[in-house]
Amino acid sequence: MEAWPPMKSASNGASVAVLPDAESLALAAATVVLAEARRAIRAKGRFTIALSGGSTPKPIYRLLAASPFVELMPWKATDFFWGDERCVGEGDPRSNEGMAREALLDHVPVPADRIHPIACETPVIARTHESKEPNASGEASAREAAERYERLLRDIFGGASPSSGAGGIDVVLLGMGENGHTASLFPGSSVLDERERWAAASLEDPDTARVTSSTGERLWRVTLTAPFINRSALVLFVVSGSAKAAVVKTVLEGGTRGTAMPATLVRPTRGRLWWLLDDAAAHLFEAGSSGGARQPLYRATEPARPHQGESVESFDDLPGCEAGPSR
Ligand code: 6PG
Repeated sequence: MEAWPPMKSASNGASVAVLPDAESLALAAATVVLAEARRAIRAKGRFTIALSGGSTPKPIYRLLAASPFVELMPWKATDFFWGDERCVGEGDPRSNEGMAREALLDHVPVPADRIHPIACETPVIARTHESKEPNASGEASAREAAERYERLLRDIFGGASPSSGAGGIDVVLLGMGENGHTASLFPGSSVLDERERWAAASLEDPDTARVTSSTGERLWRVTLTAPFINRSALVLFVVSGSAKAAVVKTVLEGGTRGTAMPATLVRPTRGRLWWLLDDAAAHLFEAGSSGGARQPLYRATEPARPHQGESVESFDDLPGCEAGPSR
């Protein structure tokens, strides 16, 4: 039985799994999160994860809030963080915290003190995207929120050194925009040159602003920086759709590095870099890739399939996942 999901090695050092469609992609991502959570609980009694914004992760969050995942996840020992947040008013539909609470956190028994939102509620809207001068008050609010989050991260992760492997978040879930941005690390942004801070204020680039706002208003945001993301034990990119195929190929082939393509800056120092793609997002990469060694993310018994309400006593009953991941 072919291991599920079969892996390819990419030139940028990533391990890549390609799933047939968006539904199986979300199931694969939820399965990886569960496997990593159980791995972390066995190793140290707690699990930390940073959630992504955007549309791709929402089905993953809904799967985690439903059977069989909802019975198996170690909710009471899991700390939730965010990879980034838009600085919008409370209740604004663009809020990453709001999306994650609606799709997942409001439906599972995570203790409130284990949920760590970035909290940049100030409605700080830069002027229209033609404006050259960013909105000064917006920047101040975003910087203040970033400094607050930095203090939190340092309190929680600052003690351990990266070399101990305990210096970062267990799983950082990331998406990627068509311009190669990830979290709120945007092309050409000075945040991409950050080497010290773990969280920073970031102004949307005009291209991204045109996607997130009908009027092209450029939002101030707060983002984890590349140096902090690269302290993670596992960075899990989940990318779907043919619109991303060209940028996926560029990033995985490792040709373009640096600020033109922020996702290329994400290469964990000691941790694993996994990319989960659906066929549509992978088709240009697949066409050109050497394929590399095909190895399983996990030793698998059979492809994971959505459960139809069967009771699952333990994680190992969940097809497709006997935890024990390869790199
Ligand atoms: C955000 C995300 C961002 C997202 C990409 C892809 O807050 O918007 O952090 O980096 O992952 O823009 O978004 P989609 O999943 O909607 O394509």
